[in-house]
Amino acid sequence: MNDILPDEAARWQKLESAFRTHVSRYGYDEVRTPIIEHTALFSRQMGETTDVVEKEMYSFERHENALTVRPEGTAGAARAYVEHHVHAREPVSRWYYLGPMFRGERPAKGRYRQFYQAGCELYGDPGPMADAEMIEMVYSYLTNVLGIPNIEVRLNSLGASGTREKYAAALRAFFEPRKDKLSEDSQRRLEKNALRILDSKDPRDREQLEGVPSLMSILDETDLAHFSSVKQFLDDMGVPYIVDPKLVRGLDYYTRTLFELVTTTGDLGAQSTLVGGGRYDNMISELGGPNVPAIGFAMGIERLLTLIPADVSREKPAVYIAPLSAACASRASVLGRDLRRLGVRTEVDGRGGKIKAMLRRADALGTKLCVIIGDGELERGVATVKDLSGHKQSEVALDTAAMSLAEQVRAAASIEQQQDKA
Ligand code: HAM
Repeated sequence: MNDILPDEAARWQKLESAFRTHVSRYGYDEVRTPIIEHTALFSRQMGETTDVVEKEMYSFERHENALTVRPEGTAGAARAYVEHHVHAREPVSRWYYLGPMFRGERPAKGRYRQFYQAGCELYGDPGPMADAEMIEMVYSYLTNVLGIPNIEVRLNSLGASGTREKYAAALRAFFEPRKDKLSEDSQRRLEKNALRILDSKDPRDREQLEGVPSLMSILDETDLAHFSSVKQFLDDMGVPYIVDPKLVRGLDYYTRTLFELVTTTGDLGAQSTLVGGGRYDNMISELGGPNVPAIGFAMGIERLLTLIPADVSREKPAVYIAPLSAACASRASVLGRDLRRLGVRTEVDGRGGKIKAMLRRADALGTKLCVIIGDGELERGVATVKDLSGHKQSEVALDTAAMSLAEQVRAAASIEQQQDKA
């Protein structure tokens, strides 16, 4: 679990606000659900035999309830959707969320026990265009908005109900003769959940994947039509993709379209999957809701941050006020209040000290204007203003100082903006 100190938090904020703006263009609104849910919600929806449920959840008992700190956002959002009868108010809902998730995995670069996801869930649209639009949305966020190069979209289809069972039977038949060569976990899963063998990270399992049956040979006509329509929409929108018939993803709730967005550069190794998502048309009804189809994705913010330039720095105070005596401090605190009311980021240095030391502090913070209020100034009803970038000095009347300083700050910001554009 990581601390995110203010220097780094500025990059998080930039990425998060770009995400909000981007998905809002596609009609998504924010949902915030609790970080703790009943354990059964996750174990039933994500699947009893998945790695997350078997080994990674932070679960505990309190007041005779079995509870879990959320390992992902999809199940909680679906629970909220059902509990609040959202389908009765609107036929289609588009939700996004941002927040921490918790999985007790072995930590590595890009793999943490508390990590942050940005995700979207779309309820009420069963059609292939919804699948393609969602993939296009996240692809363009990574490539156009964040500017991450070398993103690969991997695509597969698990089919609707029934396909999973047929495929599991085909996999059992395939793996049974070579059962002894599989990892202990996979030997156990062979009976219960053979699909999980395909996304096992154990090298013994990976070696046995040669010649494994493809899902494509098992999909029925309607599933195939849905899948080929998703591909057609992606072609129309110019989103490149690779069909990966071994892609099953690590969670059990998926039906039909599955996708991952992977970076093919960088040193994230096994953590190169930036985005995972897919359709899960049965979850809402399994949770006691109506028959409402759904699709969604989530991406790990830490992984994205390793791939974008570190060019964002903390905001600097525009004005730094240096009172030179206790009497001046009272006037300084009022000026600080007035500047903040006018929207100017202001720091008042209440620690006192010599003027030189105060100027050094103002400079170290990267401040634009340093306002000095000494006893002499106070008597005359003025303050000295030092422009630290231009090394200019002037005086302002204390009565109107807030307005005129705010004006100067705005003028300087607009010049900077024009220079940036040029
Ligand atoms: P997931 O594949 O488990 O899917 O996670 C999605 C993304 O979260 C991963 O691709 C990765 O970027 C990030 N992530 C997962 N575990 C960690 C970790 N331990 N440390 C850092 N980053 C991590 C889901 O969570 C589904 N809820 C996605 C979804 C939404 N499907 C439908 N709707």
